[in-house]
Amino acid sequence: MELLNKRPDDMARITTKELADKFIAEQVKELREQIGDKKVLLALSGGVDSSVVAALLIKAVGKQLICVHVNHGLMRKGESEQVIAVFGKELDANLVYIDATDRFLDLLAGVCEPEKKRKIIGGEFIKVFDEEASKLKGISFLAQGTIYPDILESDGVKAHHNVGGLPEDMQFELVEPVRLLYKDEVRVVGEALGLPHAMVYRQPFPGPGLGVRCPGAITRDRLHALREADAILREEFDKCGLAEHVWQYFIAVPDFKSVGVRDGKRYEGWPAIIRAVNTTDAMSATIEEIPYAVLHTITARITAEVEGINRVLYDLTPKPIGTIEWE
Ligand code: XMP
Repeated sequence: MELLNKRPDDMARITTKELADKFIAEQVKELREQIGDKKVLLALSGGVDSSVVAALLIKAVGKQLICVHVNHGLMRKGESEQVIAVFGKELDANLVYIDATDRFLDLLAGVCEPEKKRKIIGGEFIKVFDEEASKLKGISFLAQGTIYPDILESDGVKAHHNVGGLPEDMQFELVEPVRLLYKDEVRVVGEALGLPHAMVYRQPFPGPGLGVRCPGAITRDRLHALREADAILREEFDKCGLAEHVWQYFIAVPDFKSVGVRDGKRYEGWPAIIRAVNTTDAMSATIEEIPYAVLHTITARITAEVEGINRVLYDLTPKPIGTIEWE
């Protein structure tokens, strides 16, 4: 089937539940026609795009969809669990969950160079997915959460940047039901499909995950500290309402320690660096002004609750000159 890769000029922006329902009904019909009684495979990261594609396909072809969720050990706290709860349990999807944490972390041990880390994560992701795909029999289609900006920017920054890039020699026909939609439309469709608000309005999260927020060689203890500190930041942003209007916020934990004091004793630890930025296109970004009271609460909680962290810093650098991520 020839896929349309240009958004028709007269295609209305999907901004309401009614328009989303209409889109969903059309897609369900088209997907059923395209797929028939065959099987479809989807790499489900838990991000907005792949989650919406999964929910659409579940509605259209149910158990003919096989979702594979690869946990590369670099997910944020609770993310893989949410994928299992929503897709495996609530939506009763055919979900294959692979905990590949050890494979990834073993390969990354001792690797400091950012691009090398990215290559390892991307390469291993393809390997794990490929191994799983070859175990499954009778798959004809590969679904992907490609969205319109991905098509527009396919020769730009994002293509080489994404971990979800799958092997080119896979002999599957592509299914890309949201390829003509912009991100805001994907979200409206996701809500209309009944996906949780937190999943649909999730802030951007890079494919290599916490791997790009753990500068230097990743160790399990520092990665654990990063994940816990990040969870506290997200919780506090949710509580004070900042989560609703800050575009992206996270913690980075670099690989150096400084001396601190805890319970009257020397306590060496890493700093946790807070990044909270606003942007429209991620090409440039400004710094969100976080109230001091919130910064104090976050600092108190992270230093008290996270083993190995003895300082909390707030990065005030806009992009440019800093990038958004810390790698
Ligand atoms: P930087 O750090 O370059 O990030 O200012 C710009 C935006 O891109 C996100 N980012 C990624 N997104 N795959 C993605 O889909 C990736 O590998 C990746 N790396 C960075 C980053 O989170 C920010 O929103």
